[in-house]
Amino acid sequence: MNGSSDNARRNLKRARAISGSNEARTVYAEWAASYDRDVFSTLKVTGTDTIADLLHEHSADPESTRVLDAGCGTGAVAARLKMHGFTCIDGIDLSPDMLKIAHSKRLYRHLTEADLNQPFDMPDSPYPAIVSAGTFTTGHVGANGFHNLFAHLKNDGLMACVVANPVWQGDRFNRLIDDLPASVLVNRVEATMQDGEPDAHMLVLRRN
Ligand SMILES: C[S@@+](CC[C@H](N)C(=O)[O-])C[C@H]1O[C@@H](n2cnc3c(N)ncnc32)[C@H](O)[C@@H]1O
Repeated sequence: MNGSSDNARRNLKRARAISGSNEARTVYAEWAASYDRDVFSTLKVTGTDTIADLLHEHSADPESTRVLDAGCGTGAVAARLKMHGFTCIDGIDLSPDMLKIAHSKRLYRHLTEADLNQPFDMPDSPYPAIVSAGTFTTGHVGANGFHNLFAHLKNDGLMACVVANPVWQGDRFNRLIDDLPASVLVNRVEATMQDGEPDAHMLVLRRN
């Protein structure tokens, strides 16, 4: 392993060991500047593009669909959605440092600092589409956050999320999705890194 790969793995490991929102702010403040290089160039994370592609596949009219990107980070989901023709994307994230980088890319209409683990307000809620990558993961956001987010989904709206296996199992997502007023369009376990082991659920729901 070379130095940049060591650093990227160390940063990923540190993020996965986060426990709680205050620690998340600190860890992402320190990771923000090298996040894109570490995650996409070095670690070759693919889950972000996969979930954006799935949202696109199930969207009838991307151009007129307002999307909320939850845990938007530096904006990688929005970059992919824009490629697919989405034009109106709002982002929320806990980390001001990650949001600053997202802002500099001019991909989002509005960016809001919010903690998914608490109920939060969005002026334009409910949304016809919600997407999230890398946020329903160890030490970040689980079932409570999922319910907080689902509350912002319009009837008939689409929600596309990557949910890491430990969160899926630990927070009993099988039961959670059975109890939601929603139809499951996609639920498959896949690798979120190039050549990696299957480690997360790619979940797409339509709210009834
Ligand atoms: C692994 S990054 C994923 C970023 C982006 N979606 C991507 O695919 O590159 C996880 C993001 O979740 C955010 N996050 C962590 N805990 C959060 C919380 N409780 N509420 C909102 N965002 C949170 C972090 O600040 C970080 O930007």
